[in-house]
Amino acid sequence: MNGSQLPPLLPPSASTVSGELDLLFAYITAISVFFAVGIAVALAVLAVLYRRKPGDGPPPQIHGSTALELVWTVIPLLIVMSFFVWGTDLFFRMRTPPIEPLEIFVVGKQWMWKIQHQEGPREINELHIPVGQPIKLTMTSEDVIHSFSVPAFRVKQDVLPGRYTTMWFEATKTGTFHLFCTEYCGTEHAGMGGSIIVMEPNEYQVWLGGGGAGESLTDAGERLFGQLGCATCHGDQAGARGPSLTGVYNSEVSLAGGGSVTADESYLRESILEPATNIVAGYDAIMPTYRGQISEEGVLQLVAYIRSLGDPAAAGATGAAAAGEAGQ
Ligand code: CUA
Repeated sequence: MNGSQLPPLLPPSASTVSGELDLLFAYITAISVFFAVGIAVALAVLAVLYRRKPGDGPPPQIHGSTALELVWTVIPLLIVMSFFVWGTDLFFRMRTPPIEPLEIFVVGKQWMWKIQHQEGPREINELHIPVGQPIKLTMTSEDVIHSFSVPAFRVKQDVLPGRYTTMWFEATKTGTFHLFCTEYCGTEHAGMGGSIIVMEPNEYQVWLGGGGAGESLTDAGERLFGQLGCATCHGDQAGARGPSLTGVYNSEVSLAGGGSVTADESYLRESILEPATNIVAGYDAIMPTYRGQISEEGVLQLVAYIRSLGDPAAAGATGAAAAGEAGQ
């Protein structure tokens, strides 16, 4: 017996939700197997036991039993409701990031994962994170649909061109875990993977310090903001041709066509790439599109810079530590 040569039944369990998710999976599987086997065995046994024997006449007719109907309706209902309640509760916990997660940005493209940390380091097909800290990924794609999947954390989220999707997780073990693309995206889809490297927090800090260019995401955004001449229109002076960007992040913006929108990451991204779509009330549609001129990474940098200009709703709640270190 050499069990170690068999592939493991499940990937390693290394996040705050992986143990509970496995338990739920085992619970649903066990109940399903119990009823599937029970029904199949009962079917076979009863068919033999109550088969029509030589000399038997027609069997007596049965006209229903309310008690029986209730029992076999209520018991299965309670069982499937337990799947639903537990599954929904876990799903919402897996989808709702805790406050103050460590935010990291991901761009997928054929066929690689490009990662940007707020503090500056960038990496490809590797993601270094600290253990025991909630991580929130904001992700987009430069081309087709990809999917960011880390089996050891039991998380998976599609990464779409043209919009941001997010996911969060908290690693509970240090080590190296597989990263896969789990949406067929072309020839090299199968090779579009990498590693999640979970480190002790102090090791992670050391890695951040030596992990790449010193320019933070916010600084890179500020540089791009200057290069593109955004301040020409988006200055804070009265009568500027574009709206001021100070404090715009997460604020409620009135639109020219009526209604309003929350200026979150997605709205800021849209306003850079498709400025004519949702014009701020009181301004003309004079901003040119920057589609094709800035990469998705550039857009993420600009968004990080605009965020650093103030967040009225939650001053300093998200990524503030990182932005603060960057000297903004
Ligand atoms: Cu990217 Cu499959």
